Parts: sequence; structure tokens; C-alpha cells
Amino acid sequence: MSTIVQSNMQSQKPVMSDPSGQTLLCLRTLAEPNPASLAAYEKLGGYGQLKRIVSEKVKAVDIITQVKMSGLRGRGGAGFPTGLKWSFMPRYFDGTKYLVCNSDEGEPGTFKDRDILRYNPHQLIEGMAIAAYTLGARVGYNYIHGEIWQDYEIFENALFEAKAAGFLGENIFGSNFSFDCYAVHGYGAYICGEETALIESIEGKKGQPRFKPPFPASYGVFGKPTNVNNTESFASIPWILQHGGEAFAALGVPNSGGTKLFSVSGHVEKPGNYEVKMGMPFSELLGLAGGVWKGRSLKAVIPGGPSTAVMTAEMIQNATMDYDGLSKAGSSLGAGSMIVMDETTCMVKALKRLSYFFYEESCGQCTPCREGTGWLYRVLNRITEGNGKMEDLDLLTDVSSNISGRTICALGDAAATPVISFIKHFRPEFEYYIKHGKSMVEQDSLQVSGIDHTMVNTHISGVQELAKRVYIKDGSDKFGAEPNA
Ligand SMILES: Cc1cc2nc3c(=O)[nH]c(=O)nc-3n(C[C@H](O)[C@H](O)[C@H](O)COP(=O)(O)O)c2cc1C
Ligand code: SF4
Repeated sequence: MSTIVQSNMQSQKPVMSDPSGQTLLCLRTLAEPNPASLAAYEKLGGYGQLKRIVSEKVKAVDIITQVKMSGLRGRGGAGFPTGLKWSFMPRYFDGTKYLVCNSDEGEPGTFKDRDILRYNPHQLIEGMAIAAYTLGARVGYNYIHGEIWQDYEIFENALFEAKAAGFLGENIFGSNFSFDCYAVHGYGAYICGEETALIESIEGKKGQPRFKPPFPASYGVFGKPTNVNNTESFASIPWILQHGGEAFAALGVPNSGGTKLFSVSGHVEKPGNYEVKMGMPFSELLGLAGGVWKGRSLKAVIPGGPSTAVMTAEMIQNATMDYDGLSKAGSSLGAGSMIVMDETTCMVKALKRLSYFFYEESCGQCTPCREGTGWLYRVLNRITEGNGKMEDLDLLTDVSSNISGRTICALGDAAATPVISFIKHFRPEFEYYIKHGKSMVEQDSLQVSGIDHTMVNTHISGVQELAKRVYIKDGSDKFGAEPNA
């Protein structure tokens, strides 16, 4: 059987993989010897679409129509239709318009965008340049997560290459279209992935979300019209223009066009990024990742990242991996960060770990989020210390419900969702812990697997690294400074 290369988060070199299940579109340079190079991208026709639309003066409205037809939905988590978003940018504006790419990717279990930066940065740059042409943006920024320094350098190098080749800068292809693009180094705060906090951070301010409206399309970077899209969203654009919106839509299923990069982590034999057609059955994707590790059985899956609802094995077994498929099955696609948990996972400790993340990352502007995330963590902490009360379960649900929908940004909802869904689907396990003061799971492998395994392998923010070291060093579950219990 012929092989192609597959990206793997544990290695800087792509590893060989069975090609039967993957459809490489955003990662299409992977089979090339030096996938991140301009030469590799140009060999596959790279920058051909930018050249075509600029030289032929293709109308912005026609490009937006193709993007709408493609069914591309924002890959940053919310799934907002990209073509529609582009149509919100004011056509005429007397001043600079901006384009922002969101490569912040700070949620545990998310690690797809860094592989686009690492293995196919030129496709992202071409996608951004096409978007800039379409929306009339003169300047672009790619905001890259603080701790992925090597990928930041790869992207910067690609910017230099693109500029030297005349694909960026003044009067591109001799036209009157000019676009400058810069890499911006973030500092590792999860909240800076929220688009308005990200914009504040680009402006050199503390990364805290703004009230919306106004939305970035009317008040973005430096108060000017700005379009923000995720890395994978932009990287899909050149293919859409090359093959047409309909062809992209046809790769997927209704309401979920194209391919999707799934970051699969946790208790699987082959964790890594898998780019597959939207609508792939869950079981097939799990199979690509080698299945549940060590011959164990599946207990739970967080299908789209910790801000999406956890699902039991039963709920997800017949689900398809697309927006409607996962919504019908009781969760959501999010950013496609699939965390797999086997039968040995203690759901109480796993939830406590996630709650600590949201507590730690709350920016503190809104009272329900700032205080509520601390409450959630402290109550879960007292349960795992053997001091829980049965009423705590209702308290947890009540506090979560009071955070949801009452905050400036969606981090509040993101913190509430795991709590509500873990308790809803695994309540007996929580009750057992409270009653007996210990986990129902006899051989709790959280320390080397499950949520912590996911973080050890995939989430590399300073806070997480520190947490991991403290955890492993003293074997306890103390993660640095804790709030008062
Ligand atoms: C707390 C929080 C963190 C977020 N982190 C990211 C992120 O890391 N990357 C991302 O693209 N979008 C993230 N988003 C969503 C962005 O605000 C925004 O919707 C997205 O970048 C838009 O791009 P898209 O339409 O292409 O998905 C986050 C949102 C919230 C509330
Ligand atoms: S919801 Fe949380 S993270 Fe978002 S603005 Fe409010 S306090 Fe900050």
C-alpha cells in the first residue's frame, strides 16, 4: 500500500501513515521533503490562486460567493460561516482595514493550528492574502500562541520567503493591491484566543475581551474594521478558490463543508492530528488514531475541546464528526479537539482538572466568571479530598448555570459546560466519590493518562507545564497556588 506522511504532535518530522482515511487539504504539503518551504508549496501550485485573482482582478463579491458556497464554517470553535462573516466587513472605509489570523490555540487538547504553521505556513499566508484582497485589508497579523516558539519561527521564515518572492508587500504582481503581514507573539494566555482579547493584546494592552457589539468588523484593531479568522479557516481558502466552493462543500456533509483537522489525544494508541472529510463516523476516526489504547474499553469522549460537552461511549459510538452529527448526539464539534478517555479514568478528578484550567485562565473582568470558576474548582477539590457533600452536585450545577450567558465572553460558558455535562452523564461516579471519599475507578490512571496525559503531550502553556511538573513530582494533585478551599 502506498503511504503518505501524517503529522504527529510528538515528532518534528511527519510520520508515515496509512492514507486510506485522510484527505489532506490544509496539510497537503506533508508528503514533500521540506513541507514548510516555499518550494514545496509552489510545487503543488501554491500562490497560483492569489496570482490569478489579483491578475484577473476577480471581484470581491465573486470570491465571497465561492466561500459561502463552500460551506466553510469558522474552525476556531464557534463554527460561524466564513463567507457570511466576510460579507460583514465594510466595503468602503477611509483608512486602514485589518486582517487577523487567530493561531492562539490555548485550550487543552487543541494542537491543529500549530501543525499548519509547522508544515504548511505558505498555504495560510496565501489564504490570508486572498482574504486581504477580498476585504480590502492593508495589514495582517497572525497572533501565535506564546509557547510554540519553533512554529512561530517557521511562520516568520515563511513570511520572509513570501515577501522576497513578491507575494506580500507593495503592489503584489504589479497590481495596486498591497498587503503587509506580520507574526505576533502571544504570551500563553488562553483568553487571548478570544478575538477581542487578542486584538487588545495586538495593540499592546492587557489581553481582556471587549464588550460586543461593536464587533471587530466595525471596531477591531486600533478601532478599525478588522476580520478575524482561525488558522485552519484561512488555510482552507486557496483550495476553495482552486476547486470551487461546491467541490469543497461536496467533501463534507450538508451544513459542514470540507475537511476538518481533528486533534486526537488521550487514551489512544496514535495521538495526533488527522485531517479527514467532515462527517466521518466517530468509530473510523478513532480507528485512524489506533483505537483505545492498551486494549481497554472506551469510557468517554470530549469531542471538540474541553469547552464542549463530554459524551459517554454510548452517546458517541454512532455519531458522525460534523456540526450537526455531534449536535444531534448531544455535544458539539468545537475546534475538533477530541479527548478520549478509557475505562480507568476518574471522571471526578478529570473534571476537577478541567475546572482548574478555566479558573486559572479567567481574565477576571466579570464577577460570575471570576468568582464562579473559583467556586467550581474549590467544590470539586473538596470532593476529591473526601470532604464532599451530596448537595455539592446541585451546587455545582447551580453555579454553572449562573455563569452561563452572564459574562462578557464565552469563557464563562466554556467553564460551565464540562461541569454540567460531566455531572449529567457520570453522576453515580460523583455520588460514589462523595459517599466513600475515594474514586469509584479502582486503578485510576489519571496521573499518566486521561486529561493529564492530554496536557502532558499537547498543551504546552507555562501554567500547564508547571502544573504537570508539580503533579508528577509530589504525586499529589496540587497545581501551584490554590484558591482557599
Ligand atoms: C475563551 C476563548 C478562547 C478562544 N480561543 C480561540 C483560539 O485559540 N483560536 C481560535 O481560532 N478561536 C478561538 N476562539 C474563538 C474566537 O473568538 C473567534 O471566534 C475565532 O477566532 C474566529 O475565527 P473563525 O470564525 O475562523 O473560527 C476563542 C473564544 C473564546 C471565548
Ligand atoms: S467571561 Fe471570564 S474570561 Fe471572559 S471576560 Fe468575563 S471574566 Fe474575562
